Amino acid sequence: MARHFLKDDDLTATEQLAIIDLALELKKFPYSKRPFTGPKTVAVIFDKTSTRTRVSFAVGISDLGGAPLIIDSQSSQLGAKESVADTARVLDRQVAQIIWRTYAQSGLEEMANNSAVPVVNALSDTYHPCQLLADLMTVREKKGTLKGLKLGYVGDGNNMANSYIIAGALAGLHVSIATPNSYEPDQQVLARGKELALSSGGSVTISNSPQEAVSDADVLATDTWISMGMEAEKQKRLQDFAGFTLDSELLAMAKPDAIVLHCLPAYRGYEISADVLDGKQSVIWDQAENRLHAQKALMVFLAESDN
Ligand code: CP
Ligand code: NVA
Repeated sequence: MARHFLKDDDLTATEQLAIIDLALELKKFPYSKRPFTGPKTVAVIFDKTSTRTRVSFAVGISDLGGAPLIIDSQSSQLGAKESVADTARVLDRQVAQIIWRTYAQSGLEEMANNSAVPVVNALSDTYHPCQLLADLMTVREKKGTLKGLKLGYVGDGNNMANSYIIAGALAGLHVSIATPNSYEPDQQVLARGKELALSSGGSVTISNSPQEAVSDADVLATDTWISMGMEAEKQKRLQDFAGFTLDSELLAMAKPDAIVLHCLPAYRGYEISADVLDGKQSVIWDQAENRLHAQKALMVFLAESDN
């Protein structure tokens, strides 16, 4: 049975930390691991648009000795014309891993259930676990540790919020999420995060107060108010999220050495002010680079688990 990475807690806490530390190692020695030498091909499929995920997987697969095969699903049979299960049965005979950005988490599960090779979630409506490996790597790189730090997230209770809850709780962070009323994260995700926090020594708290989330935080994070697929709600969301901009006033309530994360793409003046995004405490460009290193470490881990 192949290992898959469909959600943040498909890894144990020990495996998560090992992957983050391997990522830091690969940042120093980019060509030290070559699991795809041959070259083996890795499929990277996009149902939604992407810049960072597309580039970092393509470069990462090449660095690991492999050949990336980037597929835009509109130009394939996947979706309306052919089932996910049949696609998995065809791909797994020819590629070493399947990386997929899609809408429904259930689609990823169906792909994994029918694939003999590892399947990786490159963002779904529910989670963005590859992003969280990069985010946690960035926190460890800048702060030297993860356990016990407070991460305050201000914004939408979306895929990023869900992944901060699960991956953060697994890593032993104190995750504090603030969303507007009725934009809270999924209740089941919240319950799972709290369960994970019990064994890691972390915690998960939810409120409608940005001040509570950022107060005394070591790490601040936010994400777009209008995720892919939500475009029709734009006008309503811009009204509902008033007061939830991560700006210098909120930043001043965090620890003086707090760092600021944003998975990008960012909309200056909406979820984050330009001075915070482009300011001294922002580590956003390192975070974007770390997608490459973190995903390489993940693919190495999966390739080794698959042997
Ligand atoms: N952060 C992120 O996943 O960016 P892309 O949508 O550009 O891949
Ligand atoms: N929440 C955003 C993340 C983009 C990387 C989205 O799903 O569009």
